[in-house]
Amino acid sequence: MSDKNVVMELYHDNFQNYKRYNIPKAQLVITDIPYNIGVDAYASNPSWYNGGDNKNGESKLAKKSFFNSDGNFNIAEYFHFCNRLLIKEPKERGKAPAMIVFCAFEQLETVRQYGEKHGFKNSYPLVFIKNYSAQVLKANMKIVGATEYALVLYRDKLPKFNNIGADGQKHMVFNWFEWKRDNSKQYPKIHPTQKPVNVLKRLIEIFTDEGDVVIDPCAGSGTTLRAAAELGRKSYGFEIDRNFYKEAKEKMLILPEEKQLMFPGMSIGSATADERSEK
Ligand SMILES: C[S@@+](CC[C@H](N)C(=O)[O-])C[C@H]1O[C@@H](n2cnc3c(N)ncnc32)[C@H](O)[C@@H]1O
Repeated sequence: MSDKNVVMELYHDNFQNYKRYNIPKAQLVITDIPYNIGVDAYASNPSWYNGGDNKNGESKLAKKSFFNSDGNFNIAEYFHFCNRLLIKEPKERGKAPAMIVFCAFEQLETVRQYGEKHGFKNSYPLVFIKNYSAQVLKANMKIVGATEYALVLYRDKLPKFNNIGADGQKHMVFNWFEWKRDNSKQYPKIHPTQKPVNVLKRLIEIFTDEGDVVIDPCAGSGTTLRAAAELGRKSYGFEIDRNFYKEAKEKMLILPEEKQLMFPGMSIGSATADERSEK
C-alpha cells in the first residue's frame, strides 16, 4: 500500500494561465496536441454521412473540426509552458524529465523543430499500431491509416526510464506499442480524439515513478490524469472546452474503489478560472 499523496486536478482554463494555479513542476508532460486538422477532421470517416452512407447525404459532422479549439493551437506557447513546468535538468543520470507529444505524422518534424528551439534538443518518435481504422470510406481505394504517433522530447540527459518487467528483469522497450482500445465499461468515452488510458499508463510507467508529477496541458477527457492517478502519480491538467471539462470531472476523474483503497490520502480536485479567482 502506498501512502504517497495522489492528486488528480483539472482546471477549466487555458494552460497559458497556469500561473493562477499552484502546480508543482513535473517529471513528465504528456499531451495530445490539437491536430489543426480543421474542417477535414471526419474525412474518410463514415460519420461524414448520415448513417455512414453517402446516399443519405452529409451529416452535421461533415466539414467540421473535432472540437472548437482545433485549428488555432499555439505550439510555441505550449513549449514555453513545458519548459517552465518541467523539473530542471538534475545532476544525476536517470532522473531527467521528458515530454511526450502525440501528434499527426505530418506534425512530427514541426514539433521536433519547436522542441529544439525551446531547449528540448533531443527527441525520438513512437509509433502506435491499431488493428482497426476510422478511414473505412476509402478502404477500397487506398491503404488506410491504422497508426498513431508521438514524439518523446528531452533536454540533455536521457529521461528517467523504468524497464523492469513483472519478472524483475530489465527488458528492451521497443519504439512501437499496441494501441488497445479501452473497455467503455471501465473508462467512459467522452472526447472525439480520446487516447486509451491503458496506452497512457504504459508510457507513464516507463518515464515516471510513484509520487512523481505528470501534467497534461490539453487534457480533453482527462485520460492522462486518470492514468497517472491509477499509478500513484500526482496529475494536473487544463481543458478549455466547458463540456469536455464537465464530463471529465464527472465521469473520468473518479477512481475505482480498489484504487481508492490503495491511495487513501488521495485528493481529487477541479476548478474553473472563475472559481479560482473568487478564492
Ligand atoms: C487532442 S485533444 C486531447 C484529447 C485527450 N488526450 C483525451 O484523451 O481525451 C486536445 C484538447 O486540448 C484542448 N485545448 C486546446 N487548446 C487549449 C489550451 N490553450 N488550453 C487548454 N486546453 C486546450 C481542446 O479543447 C481539446 O479538448
